[in-house]
Amino acid sequence: MRDFIQSLPKVELHVHLEGTLEPELMFQLAERNGVKLPFPDVESVRAAYEFEDLQSFLNLYYNGACVLLEEQDFYDLTRAYLDRVAAENVVHTEMFFDPQTHTERGVPFDTVIGGILRACRDAEAAHGMSTGLILCFLRDLSEASAFDTLEAAMPWREHIVAIGLDSAETGHPPEKFARVFEEVHNGGFRVVAHAGEEGPPEYIRQALDILRVERVDHGVQCTGDPELVKRLAASGICLTVCPLANVKLRVFDTMDDHNLPQLLQAGLNITVNSDDPAYFGGYMNANMTAVAEAFDLDRETLRGFTRNAIDAAFIGEDRRRALH
Ligand code: HPA
Ligand code: ZN
Repeated sequence: MRDFIQSLPKVELHVHLEGTLEPELMFQLAERNGVKLPFPDVESVRAAYEFEDLQSFLNLYYNGACVLLEEQDFYDLTRAYLDRVAAENVVHTEMFFDPQTHTERGVPFDTVIGGILRACRDAEAAHGMSTGLILCFLRDLSEASAFDTLEAAMPWREHIVAIGLDSAETGHPPEKFARVFEEVHNGGFRVVAHAGEEGPPEYIRQALDILRVERVDHGVQCTGDPELVKRLAASGICLTVCPLANVKLRVFDTMDDHNLPQLLQAGLNITVNSDDPAYFGGYMNANMTAVAEAFDLDRETLRGFTRNAIDAAFIGEDRRRALH
């Protein structure tokens, strides 16, 4: 099964670039930029990756991102991720980035996106893969900060395939950003949002009704609301599920307790993704293998995840046909 998963051409729709920062690169960039890390070495960073919930992870994740300062740093981060997943036979990936994590520290928006895009172009040429970039607003920051970020993004509009919403979910419902996402739609962007990772089914409803998302990132909490599950199934909207992340952040105690079988049984449009692979113990192959083993999934089901991802990807019809 591992060989089959490795050889399967895969499409990733839910990965945070800042979450691909491996401890080795974190230390390399810290040294290059003269940033002091609160850990003595790579091993102690890895040992700290035991999380209680989303917030306990985010604290480490935002701290790690402090080593990213120069355009070359964003290039190196992105290029390392793309090289790595190209070797796993990922043929298309849509990556989130969080500009506010960097602009709040004084790193210019253009430095962040400039480095990321240069790496995307180089990796596309090197590996024959395709990539897309999704800008996320941090939902624990203010509406005003999201508006500022949208304004900074406008000159880069043609390089951004969608706009999303991430970070600490509880207490920050989608409706907090209703006005910003009106502007996002007016600007012609496509829209996704994290909803129902830890937050209640109501947040998924808000993402659908108020933000008018085309995909729901995570969405696993939908099973708490059978009517919502029916609605999601009927609409065919894609859920970007991240199995290892859900277990690492204690949404489910173990992989055996994950509700993926229930989601599949309900006829939902499911994809499997890695979220923050450097922090959660694995990239695409590891996530696919984990669910295949836990639930004894057959090859057709795994191929189905990829087919769903191709259909839900923000790509032109020529590329979609080529991927199918
Ligand atoms: N959830 C919400 N926000 C995030 C995550 C996540 O798993 N990773 C990075 N930002
Ligand atoms: Zn995520």
